[in-house]
Amino acid sequence: MEAMVNNISVEKAATSKIHKVDFDNLAFGSTYTDHMLVADYANGEWSAPKIIPYGPISLDPSSKIFHYGQSIFEGLKAYKDEEGGVWLFRPLENWKRLNKSAKRLAIPELPESHFMDGLVALLQLEQNWVPRNPGSSLYVRPFMFASGNGFHASPAKEYKFIIALAPSGAYFSGKVKVLIEETYSRAANGGVGYAKAGGNYAGQFYPTQLAAEKGYQQVIWTDDNNHEFIEEAGAMNVFVRINDTLMTAPTNDRILDGITRKSILDIAKDEGIATEVRKISVKEVVEAAKNGSLKEMFGAGTAAVVSPISGFGYKGVDYELPEIKDSYASKLKKIITDIQYNRTGDKFGWRYKVV
Ligand code: PLP
Ligand code: COI
Repeated sequence: MEAMVNNISVEKAATSKIHKVDFDNLAFGSTYTDHMLVADYANGEWSAPKIIPYGPISLDPSSKIFHYGQSIFEGLKAYKDEEGGVWLFRPLENWKRLNKSAKRLAIPELPESHFMDGLVALLQLEQNWVPRNPGSSLYVRPFMFASGNGFHASPAKEYKFIIALAPSGAYFSGKVKVLIEETYSRAANGGVGYAKAGGNYAGQFYPTQLAAEKGYQQVIWTDDNNHEFIEEAGAMNVFVRINDTLMTAPTNDRILDGITRKSILDIAKDEGIATEVRKISVKEVVEAAKNGSLKEMFGAGTAAVVSPISGFGYKGVDYELPEIKDSYASKLKKIITDIQYNRTGDKFGWRYKVV
């Protein structure tokens, strides 16, 4: 049966899975809604996006995604307020970053209307899937990959864009212990680190597994020259508080330009917190940990929100961070989530109403 929502054609799923979902015990990103949005690129243009039942897709074994990894993604969340309103947070930033990634991976860019109209129509259809439980949200995963085939190592001629939705709980349970990396690198100058390319994550899995064997949940990546400066973590940007100054590394072509990162910086400045965007050396963080001036570290990202770091490992030594009252992390997390869940005003103009 076909209908139209917001000018997007909808093929409804025969049955809904929503009654099988335990919304009180949601993991992150492992349950999917009834529908997905799909658009195809062929003959030099994107087809109109359409909504179809969520399910497997069929690809030729010679599709270039399997061989050359032309694959990018985004991550954002839909939030439900007390009245049942559904909101997004700065979704145009995700569309812009998707196209930044697309360009770097020689994937055709996606028109804004395909992204925004498709996303809004899909969320309107799936609004009952946006959890109300505290700390939960509907994780939105737009992604794009080479569906066109051929073993020639060159960009594909056909691509698929999909948005899938996953009602999700917290990404991390509890505080995060991190390992400052001394051997492996996530990204290099002139590379694809700033893009949200699937391969950037594949490349992190092995070093992250090694770190996990030693009891760390995330790796803090350092520069690829000398592993001297802190860059970002596997799925989040990193903030360091030394005395009362909050700092984070400047973005460059090795670091993902996080939407949470830049929002946290704006909020911190607005709150009168001293901020610095500058290179942060591992040496100064270790020294600050030793002399007690390292007050906090936390990660910031869509999935991770604001995740306090409990301590870090470096050169075989573990450094614990103190438990502090009125941390910047808890203050900033409250302000950003109050905006996201429509519990407060929106002085920065970041909220986007869907329902
Ligand atoms: N850094 C990496 C490598 C990420 O995967 C993410 C998550 O998207 C972030 C940082 C944070 O970015 P954002 O705040 O836009 O989600
Ligand atoms: C996000 O925060 O949305 C991300 O994309 C991180 C992801 C690797 C889970």
